[in-house]
Amino acid sequence: MQSTISITELANDVDEGLSSDPKYLNSKYFYDAIGSAIFQKIMHMPEYYLTDCELEIFNQQKKSIFQHLNLNDQAFDVVELGAGDGLKTKILLEYFLDQNPAIKYIPIDISDEAVINLEKDLRRELPNLNVEGKIGDYFGMMEALNEIDTSPKVIMFLGSNIGNFNHQKSIDFLSHLGEVMNANDNLILGFDLKKDPDIIMNAYNDPHGYTASFNLNLLRRINEELDGTFELLKYEHFEVYDPQTGTAKSYLISKTEQSVKIGALEKIIHFKKWEPVFMEMSQKYDEEMIQNLADEAGFEIIKNFTDDRQYFINSIWKPKQIG
Ligand code: AVI
Repeated sequence: MQSTISITELANDVDEGLSSDPKYLNSKYFYDAIGSAIFQKIMHMPEYYLTDCELEIFNQQKKSIFQHLNLNDQAFDVVELGAGDGLKTKILLEYFLDQNPAIKYIPIDISDEAVINLEKDLRRELPNLNVEGKIGDYFGMMEALNEIDTSPKVIMFLGSNIGNFNHQKSIDFLSHLGEVMNANDNLILGFDLKKDPDIIMNAYNDPHGYTASFNLNLLRRINEELDGTFELLKYEHFEVYDPQTGTAKSYLISKTEQSVKIGALEKIIHFKKWEPVFMEMSQKYDEEMIQNLADEAGFEIIKNFTDDRQYFINSIWKPKQIG
């Protein structure tokens, strides 16, 4: 993997997570080149409704979204955190570009491959768009945001990426973002909504096995980058969804009692039979939860946009002005 995440950071986090009781791994490490390719497959499978919902919202409501940004004819920067392949963003970018040819798009992703491919892609598809990709993790790049030129910024954090943070982390992340935003900047967030639990379970426990491979790929990555000896067939993916809290959780379960050597850590990790490793949370929201999140992080909600089935919300936020 060629991202800016260092081997030491990966090693420290893997060490901490697998030495804990209960064990966990951080899902931000899912996205090496292979993991990013599996995530593309997830996003394109019919069960993963999130992609279609956001595409529908952008396709059908781009005009209203632009109006609510209140930018009129000012030049502005679109800063996307965790850009991936930019599939959904392209719809907005094309429309924004029609309104103002001076806009600049700044995609930020931890995978340099994602940023390079996206830049290449956009040069072909939207040749008039000024693109300036940056490689780094969201938090690290937030400081850099302030140094980007003084044009108003539209910051995008789409695809319900916020749902992969626990409550405290999302408040910290959004509050930090609010601190580096100016009064005329906007934030566009994606929130996956609570819905029929079967629909959610189908998206995260898919019949194609992509989500299982997505999780198992992190064990493969540890083998490759940290000299590990995980035998992938000895783990199974298990998904739970709690309709009360709206939290979907992914686990890898050790099917046998086993020991794994991680050379780079000079450690042997023991797994009991059926011991789970917590891999990822994907939070689902309702409007009240979104409002509470905005309040707690110091934002005001300008407008919520939803799809026909009301599965998903894209929300425009502005930092609350003090005084
Ligand atoms: C990136 N993130 C919003 C995805 C999600 O839905 O939580 C990651 C994912 N994990 C399993 N499927 C998709």
